Amino acid sequence: MTQANDTVVAQGDAAAQCPFMTQEGWDFTNPDLMEDGVPQEEFAQLRKTAPVWWNAQLPGKGGGFSDGGYWVVTKHADIRDISKNAEDWSAAENGVIMRFDDDMPPEALEVTKAGLLINHDPPEHTRLRKIVAKAFTPRAVHGLEEKLDEAARKIVQEAADSGNGDFVHQVAVDLPLMAIADLLGVPQEDRMKLFDWSNSMMNAEDPDFPIDPQVASAEILGYGYNMADARRKCPADDIVTQLVNADIDGHSLDEIEFGYFFILLTVAGNETTRNAISHGMNAFLDNPEQWEIFKEQRPATAVDEIVRWATPVNSFQRTALVDTEIRGVKIAKGDRVGMFYGSANYDEEVFDKPFEFNVLRDPNPHVGFGGNGTHFCVGANLARMEIGLMFNAIADIIPDITKLAQPRRLRHGWINGLKELQVDYGTGK
Ligand code: HEM
Repeated sequence: MTQANDTVVAQGDAAAQCPFMTQEGWDFTNPDLMEDGVPQEEFAQLRKTAPVWWNAQLPGKGGGFSDGGYWVVTKHADIRDISKNAEDWSAAENGVIMRFDDDMPPEALEVTKAGLLINHDPPEHTRLRKIVAKAFTPRAVHGLEEKLDEAARKIVQEAADSGNGDFVHQVAVDLPLMAIADLLGVPQEDRMKLFDWSNSMMNAEDPDFPIDPQVASAEILGYGYNMADARRKCPADDIVTQLVNADIDGHSLDEIEFGYFFILLTVAGNETTRNAISHGMNAFLDNPEQWEIFKEQRPATAVDEIVRWATPVNSFQRTALVDTEIRGVKIAKGDRVGMFYGSANYDEEVFDKPFEFNVLRDPNPHVGFGGNGTHFCVGANLARMEIGLMFNAIADIIPDITKLAQPRRLRHGWINGLKELQVDYGTGK
């Protein structure tokens, strides 16, 4: 890790306009900061004055890393460039997750890095991705539509019957879980296990989720291995069967690769889609004119605006494989750069009036699913379909939904999450 002197000088000028820059311990991946809200003001200041900024981290406060900090990349164009250039920017070197527990042991970090598809570089990544990509083609996803539509309507109707309550748990949670359970071949009655395990693994920094993430990941791995054994004996039409029978260029998945696939698919499609739905509802409740437009016109553009607005994954990182520069800022080989999607999706150079929630926004080249590189979200088609089905069901069944309280936010270093949103479903019950 290095930090070029000329960069420090340039950033000295910017610091006058961005007070946080001189605040000791300021960290864009600090879960306390994110619990208060995505730091949009600070991102806007950076986009204007220091679009590539060195965020120093205090010893022991690196969220599992001990390299002194990372570069904050805030501009849409730079994030697209980094995402598309896997030769210079590695997902494997330090993994893509920017923030773990401060106490995360280095061995645990190594295991996490080694396993997940998202933490591999080509050509290994290309080989692994082929295995799951088939399950997520538009055709495969379309095959789930009728079932998920029915499920969405049932979920919303049950919430409506209760009169009022927490939208996150009553509405947003279940459809993403049902979809992923169905694709994986997990029996629907076990889907709440997936929910608990994935919550515990992902939300270790929030005191509302007390289960040890290491225990949860051991349990989910055990569950996955049992399923794999069962599918080897008796194949079914699901992703677990595809994974255990995978034959890519003469190779099959080893046990660890299989286990981490299982974890990634469970976790990646669960929290993200749930948060998109919860933030989307909150945005509609804060912008009633947009809800009216949605109810009347059902514009196809709404789903991507919800994902842009929500940006459930606030950041992922890459590591420089060579000495390089972005906008004249020197980045040394081995430095980590944080791609802050939560900033890029509000970049005034790309989005007209970015702080307006506009369901008719078109074009909408957001990077909520990544910057169009090799790791672009494999579940994007499925997520879009789920979000669309859910809001159509809400508009049909509970069009008069209103907000009872401001949402409670998740304490998390890189997920923009809501854990509670109290609403009245407008059914007079
Ligand atoms: C609104 C919902 C979702 C959001 C915001 C989201 C966001 C993302 C982002 C930002 C990435 C990294 C892209 C990159 O590095 O360029 C990603 C990758 C990934 N997503 Fe999603 N995702 C969502 C839903 C889903 C769903 C439903 C699934 C599957 C069930 C899924 C599975 C994955 C997988 C497996 C990867 C890794 C792909 C790779 O490394 O090749 N995601 N997602």
